[in-house]
Amino acid sequence: MGGNPGHIDETAVGKTYGEWFSHGLRGMVMRYVFSRRGLWVINTPYRRILSAASITPQDRVLDLGCGIGNILIALAERIAFTHPLLGVDVSPDLIRIGEREIARPGLRDRIRLQVAPATRLPFDDEAFDVVLTSHVLKHLDDDALRTSFREVARVLRPGGRFLLWEFEKSARSAILFWSARLSGLPPPFQLRTIAQLSDALRLAGFQRVVRVDTGVFLIPPVPRLALLATR
Ligand SMILES: C[S@@+](CC[C@H](N)C(=O)[O-])C[C@H]1O[C@@H](n2cnc3c(N)ncnc32)[C@H](O)[C@@H]1O
Repeated sequence: MGGNPGHIDETAVGKTYGEWFSHGLRGMVMRYVFSRRGLWVINTPYRRILSAASITPQDRVLDLGCGIGNILIALAERIAFTHPLLGVDVSPDLIRIGEREIARPGLRDRIRLQVAPATRLPFDDEAFDVVLTSHVLKHLDDDALRTSFREVARVLRPGGRFLLWEFEKSARSAILFWSARLSGLPPPFQLRTIAQLSDALRLAGFQRVVRVDTGVFLIPPVPRLALLATR
């Protein structure tokens, strides 16, 4: 996709995240904040949100844009899954760091990470019961969002659940846009409303879309939205 006019460069975003996580003090802070240990900072109410998907030990779970595996590690700590949990991220650097994060608590057999973009999931049709994605969709423009949602619908079995959360488009989120610009993050940085995301989910073939109460996020203190879509 990279470099094609009219298409976003998904790998460029992954490269920037890789640089942020790899060097100096910023790297240390990022590796903590996005780790299992740092979930309370940027994904404060993650347990409450995850409970909306009613995940069971038999579920085959995919985390899309898994970063360094924070959510998957938290899930594996609480639930004795019968299938390995899977995570994909467009950043090879983050997947490498994630492998170390998974090895630390001895979860190598229970969580598998691989590099893949949100628009091309390297999995068979109906391979999952649950797909999660948190704080990723802002990196997709409308075309890529449509493609990614179709991919999620394809890899979910009928009746499978897609739980997503992200910054919500609102006046209070404008600060994020400017900080993304200043940080050098490649575009897009596109926040959306619940209605916009719900429409895109229905267009991708999801039968039922319900809003999930997010609770309070500590940092950054801007509104999030969460949706549970059923295929
Ligand atoms: C803000 S981090 C969120 C990480 C984790 N999901 C969390 O909530 O802590 C965004 C992640 O999305 C990944 N990402 C961005 N664009 C992506 C794409 N097109 N496909 C797959 N992953 C992507 C980035 O590499 C990064 O790891």
